[in-house]
Formats: sequence, structure tokens, C-alpha cells
Amino acid sequence: LIAFFQPKLLAGRHVLLTAGPTSEPVDPVRVLSNRSSGKTGYALARAAREAGARVTLITGATFLPVPRGVTSLSVTTARQMHDAVMASAADADIFIAVAAVADWRVKNVSTQKLKKTSEGGGAPVMEFEPNPDILAEVAKLANGPWCVGFAAETEKLAEHAEAKRARKGIPLLVGNLAHKVMDADTTELVLFDEQGVHPLPAAGKLDAARRLIAEIAARVPGK
Ligand code: CTP
Ligand code: CA
Repeated sequence: LIAFFQPKLLAGRHVLLTAGPTSEPVDPVRVLSNRSSGKTGYALARAAREAGARVTLITGATFLPVPRGVTSLSVTTARQMHDAVMASAADADIFIAVAAVADWRVKNVSTQKLKKTSEGGGAPVMEFEPNPDILAEVAKLANGPWCVGFAAETEKLAEHAEAKRARKGIPLLVGNLAHKVMDADTTELVLFDEQGVHPLPAAGKLDAARRLIAEIAARVPGK
């Protein structure tokens, strides 16, 4: 019922989001991934929908139900997420990148299960190559969506977040302290934009998401 009475701040807008972890193969039975639960991204998808937006959610593996009225597409690797996002980006008004995307993928993925007793007898050696930066790429699109990034940091939040916002060329970056949010139900967000630093009050993830959607709606240029 509360959802029904949310102001329709994003009516007529198409919001594209990424959420959850990506997962990169090591061999046929092993992956490299991270501890993103997807809760923040899913809460934002729900809040955007409540605010009247059409919502497309590109998601890594999570245990969460897709919010009602949200169109979702499941992906595994960063490259799959990249391709799915690029296919929808031109049509989106707002892109919110919440996914914890693996920065690197294994270059020498083994076609067979790695054995404990390898040929040399030692630990396996993994080579890495960089994954595409989905957010930075969308931010560079001509006539692309208005972009929001997330930065989960374990230290020096303001310093890293400001640098990240500039590097990715995005109008709004949302920072939080990673060890406080991974898998937690509450969150403390700090907004970084052209005007400076704006800490939001600590809140449950859904309330924080509704507040953030209101902050986004207030900043995104009119159609
Ligand atoms: N992001 C993305 N594609 C990537 C890496 C990150 O879209 N390959 C997005 C994330 O979804 C997030 C933002 O970029 O919105 C910041 O991600 P983060 O990992 O904090 O930044 P990086 O630029 O990867 O820097 P680092 O991991 O070194 O802090
Ligand atoms: Ca990263």
C-alpha cells in the first residue's frame, strides 16, 4: 500500500539497472565472484518502479525475487552483463550501475577441471585480462542515459568516490562503506555530485532506495 502512494517522480521514464555480482569462470567447475547480495540494486529497481518508471534490471546471480513490474534479464559474466546493458542503453533515460562487476577475468580458463596435483606440482597460475567498464562505456554514449554509479569502498570513501566520479564522467556517484553494506539490510549512502558531498541518513535498504530515487528524479534533466 505504501508503494501505491509513492509519488510518481519517474513516470514516463525508462530506468536501466545492473545489480548483483558477476562471476567469471576459472575452469568448468570453479568461478571467481564477489559477495554482492544484490539487495541494494533490487531495492532500487523496486523503488524506481514504484516511482512510475519502466524498469529493466540486468542481474547477476542472487537469491532475491524480481520486484513486481520489473523486467529482468539474468547474466553470469561481466561481458554478458556488458552486452545486455549495451542492447538496452540507447532506449534508457537513466542508467543506475549497482552491480559488483569483476574488474578482471581469467585469461587462461582451463577446459578441464584443475587438479590439485598439477603438472609442475605447485599452485595453478592464473593470468587475468580486464573486463569492459560498463558504466564508463554507457557514460560515453552520445545521447545516452543519465548515469548513476555506485562505489563500495573499504577506506577513504570521499577521496575514492570523487576520483571515480571524475574518471567515469558521470553526474552522480553514490558511495558507501563496503564492509557495512555487503549483505546487510541497512545502508548509509553518501552522494557525490557537481555540488559536492551529500550524506543521506542511515536507513533500511528500501527506504534508502526510495530516497535515492527521489534524489535522482530531482537531478535528472527534464525530457
Ligand atoms: N562498474 C561497471 N563495470 C565494471 C566495473 C564497475 O559498470 N567493469 C560500475 C559499478 O557497477 C559501479 C561503478 O562502476 O557503479 C564503480 O565500480 P567500482 O568497482 O567501485 O569501480 P572501479 O572503477 O572498478 O574501481 P575499483 O574497483 O578499483 O575501486
Ligand atoms: Ca571494480
